[in-house]
Amino acid sequence: MASFAFHTYGCQMNVRESEAAARALQEAGLTLAADEAQADVVIVNSCSVRGKAEDKALGKLGLLCATKRERPGRVVGLMGCMAQRLGDEVFRRVPMLDFSIGTRCAERVVDAVEAALAGRKTLAMRDLHAEPTALSGHLEDGSFSAFVTILLGCNRRCTYCIVPDVRGDEWSRPASEVLAEVRALAERGVKEVTLLGQSIMNYGLRTPAWTVADPPSPGGYTLPFPRLLEAVAAIPGIERIRFTSGHPAGVTEELIRLYRSEPKVCHHLHLPVQSGSSEVLSRMRRGYTREQYLEAIAKLRAAVPEMAITTDVIVGFPGETEADFEQTRTLMEAAAFDNAFIFKYSPRPGTVSATWEDDVSEAEKARRNQVLLGDQDVRGARLNAQLVGSEQEVLAEGPSLRNKARWSGRTSANKIVVFEPPEGIRPGDLVRLRIVRAAPQTLYAF
Ligand code: SAH
Ligand code: SF4
Ligand code: F3S
Repeated sequence: MASFAFHTYGCQMNVRESEAAARALQEAGLTLAADEAQADVVIVNSCSVRGKAEDKALGKLGLLCATKRERPGRVVGLMGCMAQRLGDEVFRRVPMLDFSIGTRCAERVVDAVEAALAGRKTLAMRDLHAEPTALSGHLEDGSFSAFVTILLGCNRRCTYCIVPDVRGDEWSRPASEVLAEVRALAERGVKEVTLLGQSIMNYGLRTPAWTVADPPSPGGYTLPFPRLLEAVAAIPGIERIRFTSGHPAGVTEELIRLYRSEPKVCHHLHLPVQSGSSEVLSRMRRGYTREQYLEAIAKLRAAVPEMAITTDVIVGFPGETEADFEQTRTLMEAAAFDNAFIFKYSPRPGTVSATWEDDVSEAEKARRNQVLLGDQDVRGARLNAQLVGSEQEVLAEGPSLRNKARWSGRTSANKIVVFEPPEGIRPGDLVRLRIVRAAPQTLYAF
């Protein structure tokens, strides 16, 4: 019986899809390899968001294909966003590749693997404007936390972004399907779900006609996003709900009320800002100004003072001046972000901004990146220090990586806490702990 392994790049949506594809392969009789080096079939799940992400996946495919010289029967496959973007060109770039599967057709993985084991190549692509089928199913790994994709694709079309091209039109999964998936997870012992979507608060807003026109059951309808959160919270066994990514336009009064009324919804929001300059934001076509972004945050914090807010920032967008960059610095301070992911702008083929001159030098992008990371370290340490003395509810994850005698877990605000495990504790238990000291990335309860 052939064994398989996944090598996954990119966002949580890819992690989720690798898991679902792995489950489908297991159901077809393949086994999960103990490690990648031993696997008969290795599948790279790829990301296209920056040039570097593609370079990594192509490099990895090259290395994997080289192992076929010693192991001629070995299968190397590709799926995900880069597979979608490159189409059949990928076989020119990686001639020894056995299959390539685009987005929205991950269920083709079983056929592709079987064909490859029989010596045939597969290229599977699907119309990204057509109704997708979300592949469901998770590995039975005893995990207490799981991702659930609720919104596929993206309609926002920020000028720098390849995601709408590789993930297709926005599509809300029927609420009945989402709730059934969460119920199945809860029955398996999952306590925490993270709902996924590129612009997740658009869930249920721009529902394509065919989702509501011919509902297979009353539950075939979607719900407004806050109502979906309530319905997920009502599922027995689910203790915590997270979701990502947010957009300021989705920070509505209704959502804010829900944060206050529904204790299972975690006090953390990932709200990518991208830039602090309204002029840059406008050229990015983000759909908000600096002031509107800060206003959304102020409303959230007024309602839920302990709300942690994290973000994504792009440095070196075409035309970003030193003054624009300073605006990003001051916005990040004003927003008091708990954490931030900083990316150097990377022009993506076919996007609007790729037609503009990439006029900030690589060295200057690297400098701006370092400045923001330095600021964030100081800010993160300061915000964590403020939590010393507080009592926090922590979802226990298991022994800490550094010291197996200690355990780690996360607070509702997604802060990592290291603690001494009480007798009989199991992963997935909720424990109340007093924070006694803080480091920039970690809180300690002992
Ligand atoms: N849908 C999410 C983001 C998905 S992509 C949102 O809009 O919030 C994840 C992050 O990658 C983005 O937030 C952005 O900061 C970064 N990113 C996207 N395209 C990029 C590009 N061309 N160059 C550099 N960073 C990019
Ligand atoms: Fe890309 Fe913008 Fe959509 Fe996010 S909202 S996936 S950045 S187009
Ligand atoms: Fe990358 Fe595709 Fe996610 S481009 S960030 S893996 S949606």
